[in-house]
Amino acid sequence: MAPQISPSILSADFARLADEAKAVAGADWLHVDVMDNHFVPNLTLGVPVVESLARATDTPLDCHLMIEAPDRWAPQYVEAGAGSVTFHVEAATAPVRLAREIRAKGARASMALRPATPVEPYEDLLPELDMLLIMTVEPGFGGQAFLDIMLPKIRRTRELIDRHGLELWLQVDGGVSASTIERCADAGADVFVAGSAVYGAADPAEAVRALRDQAEA
Ligand code: DX5
Ligand code: ZN
Repeated sequence: MAPQISPSILSADFARLADEAKAVAGADWLHVDVMDNHFVPNLTLGVPVVESLARATDTPLDCHLMIEAPDRWAPQYVEAGAGSVTFHVEAATAPVRLAREIRAKGARASMALRPATPVEPYEDLLPELDMLLIMTVEPGFGGQAFLDIMLPKIRRTRELIDRHGLELWLQVDGGVSASTIERCADAGADVFVAGSAVYGAADPAEAVRALRDQAEA
């Protein structure tokens, strides 16, 4: 699959979300980080903001739920207009049931792994998912340094996906930038979240194009 770029609005100006979304209209997705101050030590936004964002942009929303009780909340993000909803397996009670519910409601179902969570125990679940997110930082904050130690996990996950002949997308999130995206792409990732590397750039739209070119190279 051609690489896809998902800029994270966590690094945008929250008082100007509609404009910040439009600034990256050429991106494949808009990554929306939902944090509840329980699953991660930070608090961001919730369902009403996602509803408003969905109305404000044509770019599909890629909602990353860093929250407790995703079984209860994830379906509400589909109803709010998300095109893809990612829950953390560490927080989910019934990941298979939840993935099926997200799909049944009409969004792409995605599951995230924190850095210390191995992929192997979830091999049998992969056919239930449209995307797997491998965190390349500890979730909670933008602007952290990319964890090189996650590259072997990305590679092993790519092998699992290919061995099973799955269509599953492989997303990386955290510290993805001009200096790390090529290593992620080489290891087998195909959807790239970038917060500070996009919104910290003088021209966010150009930063998206440059990252895509690098991932394709
Ligand atoms: C971190 C979030 C990321 C964050 C990435 O917990 O899930 O999506 O916005 O930011 P950067 O690209 O700056 O590491
Ligand atoms: Zn994220």
